[in-house]
Amino acid sequence: MKIDVELKNVTKKFGDVVAVDNVSFKVKKGEFFSLLGPSGCGKTTTLRIITGFEKPTEGEVYIGEKVMTDVPPFKRPTNIVFQNLALFPHLNVYDNISFGLKIKKLPKDAIQKKVEEMLNLVRLSGYEKRRIRQLSGGEQQRIAIVRALVNEPTVLLLDEPLGPLDLKLREEMAVELKRIQREVGTTFIYVTHDQGEAITMSNRIAVMDYGKILQIGSPDEVYEHPNTEFVAEFIGRSNVVKGQYKDGVVEVNDLGGMIVGAQNFDSGPVLACIKPEKIFVGKKLDSLDNIFNAEIKEVYYQGPITQYRALLENNSVISIISANIRAGELFKSGDKVKVAWNKENVVVIKT
Ligand SMILES: Nc1ncnc2c1ncn2[C@@H]1O[C@H](COP(=O)(O)OP(=O)(O)OP(=O)(O)O)[C@@H](O)[C@H]1O
Ligand SMILES: [Mg+2]
Repeated sequence: MKIDVELKNVTKKFGDVVAVDNVSFKVKKGEFFSLLGPSGCGKTTTLRIITGFEKPTEGEVYIGEKVMTDVPPFKRPTNIVFQNLALFPHLNVYDNISFGLKIKKLPKDAIQKKVEEMLNLVRLSGYEKRRIRQLSGGEQQRIAIVRALVNEPTVLLLDEPLGPLDLKLREEMAVELKRIQREVGTTFIYVTHDQGEAITMSNRIAVMDYGKILQIGSPDEVYEHPNTEFVAEFIGRSNVVKGQYKDGVVEVNDLGGMIVGAQNFDSGPVLACIKPEKIFVGKKLDSLDNIFNAEIKEVYYQGPITQYRALLENNSVISIISANIRAGELFKSGDKVKVAWNKENVVVIKT
């Protein structure tokens, strides 16, 4: 397995602010790797350290086999796409894409071939003469991406490149970006605060908070097996319940025992996390490990699914996502129901 980028114990301080706190990870060749976390958690700073725009206070950066820590940005085999894209507004599409190639003094026909290839990749053939302001947001996005790809970087870094787009376009571009990455096979390091985007596109995700990486894993690993309350809440909004673990049961105040799959735990305080879509809701439910009484409080019908907020007998609120398999079978506010889930769907986190 070839490693393209490695950070070893990288810390970056700005005065008293620890923007990046002892971060280590390896990105494999051809991987789509995402840094996911809330605003201010150190994502951009981490990217800037990889490109060389920032020097780490401590730690080492490797690209390929080489230590890059003292190599200036323009000598690194990386390229970056920024959130604001930074396309040249006064140049047309052709001149934007070919800018880097002209600096490298490639022959004219080679440049032309390369630009055509790139426009073809993002399905914008024939757009050479368009001005940047004559392009839609999504089109500008694609031009910014190929302008960075045309120089054939070993690693392409993308800092929230879909930020300015509206939701529907973001979703389309996420799928498009993944296709482009698969076709060119370039290693991508992608920064986002949007868990849906990271899950859709990534081979692996590093979840960050306060400068630290909390968990690295495939989308389903971080989604199904979060290692901290933060990851559980940040990715897919778990229901998190406090309790005391003993012998496969989490005892929850005023609610009773919740049977959980986890066995290798010492007795003591834990958090039990249950994803909303793993909860059944109904008038009669049986043959499930955990069944509790609840009252429906809020109903959000969303077409394919309905989201419920329901009150348990200990006055805590849980969120439920229910697939609308049969039309017309909705609960309404005030309905007395049962909510239930299986023990293997409870993630137990030690506190
Ligand atoms: N040049 C700087 N001087 C001082 N503090 C900085 C500097 N750059 C970043 N910081 C601080 O470091 C922390 C991490 O910033 P960073 O830009 O990496 O966050 P981010 O995860 O990219 O956030 P966002 O999602 O809002 O873009 C923040 O607290 C920020 O205020
Ligand atoms: Mg940022």
